[in-house]
Amino acid sequence: MKLIYVAGKGGVGKSVCSAASGIWKAHDGEETLVFSMDPAHSLSDIFQIDLGSHPREIREHLYAYEPDLAMEAGSFFRRYRSIFTALFGLFEVEVKPEDFGKMPGVSELIFMDKLNDICADKKYDYVIIDSAPTAMVLPLLQLPTITTGFVTKLLGMRNRWMGMLDLLQPGFGDRILSEIRMMRMKAEAMRLALIDPEASSITIVTIPEKAAVEESHRLIETVEAHGVTVSTVIINHVIQDCDCRFCREKKASQTAYIQELRESYIEKKIIILPDYGGEVLGEALMKMAEDIYANDIAATG
Ligand SMILES: Nc1ncnc2c1ncn2[C@@H]1O[C@H](COP(=O)(O)OP(=O)(O)OP(=O)(O)O)[C@@H](O)[C@H]1O
Ligand SMILES: [Mg+2]
Repeated sequence: MKLIYVAGKGGVGKSVCSAASGIWKAHDGEETLVFSMDPAHSLSDIFQIDLGSHPREIREHLYAYEPDLAMEAGSFFRRYRSIFTALFGLFEVEVKPEDFGKMPGVSELIFMDKLNDICADKKYDYVIIDSAPTAMVLPLLQLPTITTGFVTKLLGMRNRWMGMLDLLQPGFGDRILSEIRMMRMKAEAMRLALIDPEASSITIVTIPEKAAVEESHRLIETVEAHGVTVSTVIINHVIQDCDCRFCREKKASQTAYIQELRESYIEKKIIILPDYGGEVLGEALMKMAEDIYANDIAATG
């Protein structure tokens, strides 16, 4: 199984590129899942189909999935009940399971847990992850270190803290530790998959404009500092030949940013996608898939 993680700034075209990639891989006969890791899901709109809360087959070999965050938050909460009971009890906060998924940073944990289950199932040849604008890949990479620190601390405090917890409920301390170990094991499995170039690749989608290009540089640098290689940069919304003054000027500025990206990432695959002049839906998705995968000129020239 191979993971293709699609990341980038807000609105640059991550979701349509993920959907188009899914269509292409499925067309190639690969069992493919497009998995939305963005709480503001948009795959239903792009595929123009109601996806529901389980992976749904939308055409031969192609599945799409937009996990229902509230529902998954509930089962995540139950799976790690002791940790959260202890944490929330410690800070005297009352959190209902249905509100839990809305807490900052929690959706990353929940989606990571879900993704791990999907990878463990080994049902798909490709899982394409359509991520939220602030790439979740970093929390995914950092989680094992955080949970390791947590386990170590808890073990260190075991006699004092765990004894107290055990007074409240026999075996409570041990349950917390085993839940944290499970969380850590899953996080580490995801981290190992992400840093293995045979198992994963990260695609950054960007547009040839200052803010987007700068954010892409930062994202690539940070992700690669964690040992994950970005294999592909998709430069989207590139305007085509047009003689009007507006387009000529825009094209000149786009060309400079494209050049900068090419020079910065000589070793990466650079894919140029045109602006299609309207929303990418239906047939336009297939066209986009061809532009990403079939036209090698786009990747090299
Ligand atoms: N090359 C293109 N030509 C024309 N329209 C495009 C192109 N790429 C994307 N779009 C359109 O731009 C809009 C945003 O695309 P998309 O939802 O894929 O971006 P995103 O990066 O996933 O956004 P978000 O960060 O909000 O999740 C959509 O309406 C999509 O159809
Ligand atoms: Mg999106």
